[in-house]
Amino acid sequence: MCGIVGYVGNKSSLPVLLEGLRMLEYRGYDSAGVSLAYERDMITVKSKGKLCELEKKLAERNIRESLCGIGHTRWATHGAPSDINSHPHETELLTLVHNGIIENHKSIEGFLLREGYSFVSETDTERAAKLIDYFYKQTREPISALLEAKKTLLGSFAFGVIFKDIPSKIYALRKDNPLIVGYDSTSSYLASDIPAILPYTKRCCRLSEGIVAELSSGSISFYDKPFSLADEKFEEVEWTCEQAQKGGFPHFMLKEISEEPSALRSTVERRLDSLPPSLFEGDDSILKCVERISIVACGTAMHAGLVGQNMIEKYARIPVSVEIASEFRYRDSIIQNGTLALFLSQSGETADTIAALRKAKELGYPTLAIVNVFGSTLAREADRVLYTNAGPEISVASTKAYSVQCAMLALLALNLALLRGEMSEDKVKKICRSLLCELPSAVESVIARGEEIRTLSQSITDAEHLFFIGRGIDYSLALEASLKLKEISYIHSEAYPSGELKHGTISLISDGTPVISIITDRALAEKSLFGVHEVISRGARVILFCSEDIAREASLPHCERFILPKCPSSVLPFVLATAVQLFAYYTSAEKGLDVDKPRNLAKSVTVE
Ligand code: AGP
Repeated sequence: MCGIVGYVGNKSSLPVLLEGLRMLEYRGYDSAGVSLAYERDMITVKSKGKLCELEKKLAERNIRESLCGIGHTRWATHGAPSDINSHPHETELLTLVHNGIIENHKSIEGFLLREGYSFVSETDTERAAKLIDYFYKQTREPISALLEAKKTLLGSFAFGVIFKDIPSKIYALRKDNPLIVGYDSTSSYLASDIPAILPYTKRCCRLSEGIVAELSSGSISFYDKPFSLADEKFEEVEWTCEQAQKGGFPHFMLKEISEEPSALRSTVERRLDSLPPSLFEGDDSILKCVERISIVACGTAMHAGLVGQNMIEKYARIPVSVEIASEFRYRDSIIQNGTLALFLSQSGETADTIAALRKAKELGYPTLAIVNVFGSTLAREADRVLYTNAGPEISVASTKAYSVQCAMLALLALNLALLRGEMSEDKVKKICRSLLCELPSAVESVIARGEEIRTLSQSITDAEHLFFIGRGIDYSLALEASLKLKEISYIHSEAYPSGELKHGTISLISDGTPVISIITDRALAEKSLFGVHEVISRGARVILFCSEDIAREASLPHCERFILPKCPSSVLPFVLATAVQLFAYYTSAEKGLDVDKPRNLAKSVTVE
């Protein structure tokens, strides 16, 4: 995913831009560039590859100090990674950086060619830049040029723009892609994500769609049309700079797993000051006539949806379907009255999930989003939003966001159970107390046993293929455990319902095949253990993750194991999740891989 930074103030802009781009590297990119503005000049330096390549090019140039500039890290969508396709893109009158995809770039190209423009790159961004250039030529008024272009552009964009004849201001405009602005007494900052601004100021604003921000030294103005000031909300970002740093951990992923107890506590306790859990500060009308729920998400968030399905159906007795957003958005959906469409997303910017939300709204579903990033697109467009409070999740592999999504879904399930009279208040209170008081400490005790899990992981670092198996909620957890392992250790693994192996895939089990068995559901323990014996008898090497009560009561097969701490059954899914996240983490770290930035992956998939 691309990263945008901008700076204007009384400091040299280049160091601020480069540091900001470094803070956004986690988003994944394949080229980078900066533009530095001067009274009568604009210098743009850009390069394919990592930031170090850009810095080499900058070192070769005699760069004078500039007080205003923009920077970009590009994740190629239109046009291969190359110097010429990198951003910023300069035109006669401006320089521009862009996140997103311009869907009508071909028709814009045709129009501009007829207007005498030519193109040097393959990118949709260059077409957008020259369209803005075209409008600016008409009026020499930056706000109207940007807003005129916005009327013409289709697709998604976040722009940072410097007009060459206004070298002390940066302009920003977004649609379907996030942009944050911040300021202190002498400078203003632009970024596509908060960590790039945090080292300088906590006073941030998530720019609204269609609003043009004009950044000057130490002040920012907002316009909804030329010469018409708009009002945008600034917030003191709770995230400290340290939160966006690794804080002494070798990887963001391990740091973020270690934050799960506090993230869970923060997510749960905010809503347990009253019963039912106060999810919507009083107005829970969106839940009132819910007869069924359709959960829509991608990847790990979808797996959290599967855990939520289990809990909502168990506590509230409401049928729940879980759909992959990229499938839902193109499926010929059948609307059923009384359906709540629930969207899960850490970033709130996942293109498939946003498209699915928009489709659900077109079909007339009430929409609820559970997201981790304040003011994100999903949060703004859903009818209602519940914010998880996991803090910034930098590592590409989602961990604490998954855990707090499951916690929020548990609270939703309990809320619905009370509203529908499916559970007594006492029973709900008991589970809420477990979530509030026992869950964080149980997760902490698993984290404290990290070395034990690291030892277990060492036995699979050379594996090429392995299985995760489980039944019921343990199968949902196995799916997430498998994805976590695959995406950061590059070991091929598959998650299977224990009872399904004999219908085909057990043929893949041979001597030494690693099989990770997850057993926390007491009611299914005997059946699940049978599945373990099945694969052991065919030569599998089993690692068993199971709950303390099952380990105590059942006769476990002879195999490696990790026994979860003693805790209430309502807490077990979260505790198991932390254990298998650590299992994946140590496997990847043992292999010396780039745990936080796995190959081919980006933190937020904001393109299809
Ligand atoms: C998580 O480990 C994965 N990197 C990925 O599946 C992610 O969960 C998915 O892209 C959805 O992202 P979101 O939660 O930001 O919508």
